[in-house]
Amino acid sequence: MTDTPFPINPEGSALKGVRGQVLTFKADPFLNNESECYDYYEDGMVVIQDGHILAVGPYSDLAPEYPELSDIDTYTDAVIMPGFIDCHVHYVQSPMIGSFGDTLLQWLNQYTFPTEAKFKDKKFADDVAKVFFRQVLEQGTTTANVFSTAFAESVDAFFEESERYNTRMISGKVLMDRNVPDAVKDESAEESILVSEQLLKKWHHRGRQLYAVIPRFAPTSSPKQLELAGQLYQRYIDQGVYMHTHLDEAQNEIDWVSQLFPEESNYTDVYKHYGLVDRRSVMAHCCIVREEEWQTLHDCQCGVAHCPCSNLFLGDGQFKMWEAKQQNRPVRVGMGTDVGGGTNFSIPRNLNEAYKVSMLQMKNINAVKAFYLATRGGAEALHLENTVGSLAPGYEADIAVLSLHPSEFAEWRMKFEDNIFDKLFVLMTLGLNNMNVATYVAGNKVFDRERSEQFKYASEFQKSEYKSSKL
Ligand code: GUN
Ligand code: ZN
Repeated sequence: MTDTPFPINPEGSALKGVRGQVLTFKADPFLNNESECYDYYEDGMVVIQDGHILAVGPYSDLAPEYPELSDIDTYTDAVIMPGFIDCHVHYVQSPMIGSFGDTLLQWLNQYTFPTEAKFKDKKFADDVAKVFFRQVLEQGTTTANVFSTAFAESVDAFFEESERYNTRMISGKVLMDRNVPDAVKDESAEESILVSEQLLKKWHHRGRQLYAVIPRFAPTSSPKQLELAGQLYQRYIDQGVYMHTHLDEAQNEIDWVSQLFPEESNYTDVYKHYGLVDRRSVMAHCCIVREEEWQTLHDCQCGVAHCPCSNLFLGDGQFKMWEAKQQNRPVRVGMGTDVGGGTNFSIPRNLNEAYKVSMLQMKNINAVKAFYLATRGGAEALHLENTVGSLAPGYEADIAVLSLHPSEFAEWRMKFEDNIFDKLFVLMTLGLNNMNVATYVAGNKVFDRERSEQFKYASEFQKSEYKSSKL
């Protein structure tokens, strides 16, 4: 354990190096020759300045180029890679993760809506946001596309905490004006859009924060709310605003949508009709998708979040990766934890389940494809592939460091593997919770497993009154 002051380099212009095995992706291995999709340096270095990456390459090449570089963090038996990207997660469901399962629609009514009703209380929202950020940063996730609740307080709480860490995050107010309990229902479609626009103006592009228009899913928005949400999205899409929702997750949800919108030929067309399907639309789940829907998602350049832990926990369905990645109309796919339908905050643990879901379909996802999905694939799904998700000059310096010996057994097991991707496959398959050892956000280390105070920022949540009381 080291207890030197936590390294803080806010907006500092000093050069920083992160040295060790470095792995980064530059293209989609589902569509291209795998060996052309990544760069791997056995003794590599990432050179950082002002929160951005200046250079990446072999240490022996870069050290002479930067003779003034003295501040170098060196990792042995670990892999330095881009911070993971979680394309779909509900931070507000952190207090109910692991609740005894049921089918999606019953689970929403029994656990989700009562929990989300608590987020009108800003203090409660603040506490949960603090817990959430510690969880994702511990797991090496540095960017996430996040549901809050219908309450503006929960959006402010989220972005305030994100701003404190300077993470690149996407969130917004959840829209739902029908088929939900009154405690979480929007007063009216018009008012919900007004509040969304106020929050958008407050947070979009403030530092690294990005705003999303978030109709929860088609059954919980009236046609009027979907129409106004589509108009809001279209007004701001050129400024980089997102649309985030759920699509084609479970059969009873799809059946319900066709009853509510009988005039549309499929679920995707419901969103499309209201202007909600476009290049910054991110659809969570997509387990049961018709061919014409994949075509629309491809044509409109939408992102899809594959959330296998959640799909298995809720018994929704199996994501068809090879349908999504069909060569003639590939769709942008990233990983999502979907906490609290998902049962953990770790993207590598979700890769483990993604592998098993695809094995049920007689296909296998190797470590090249898996870690692409966890990093650059996620960035592509969020149209951030020129900003985060790769380690290359000009990118924002968000980094995860995965230990190759997170336990005594894992260390022993790795002795039987030589190749980096074989080792990474073992790592994701063992699915240990402590595999990420350090996380950097815009060049600053915010999590360090080796320190007794592991996080850059202290949090009060452990002392909070919610600890032992039932929510
Ligand atoms: N569909 C609508 N809301 C939700 C949610 O909160 N979680 C999941 N998994 N699916 C949803
Ligand atoms: Zn979800």
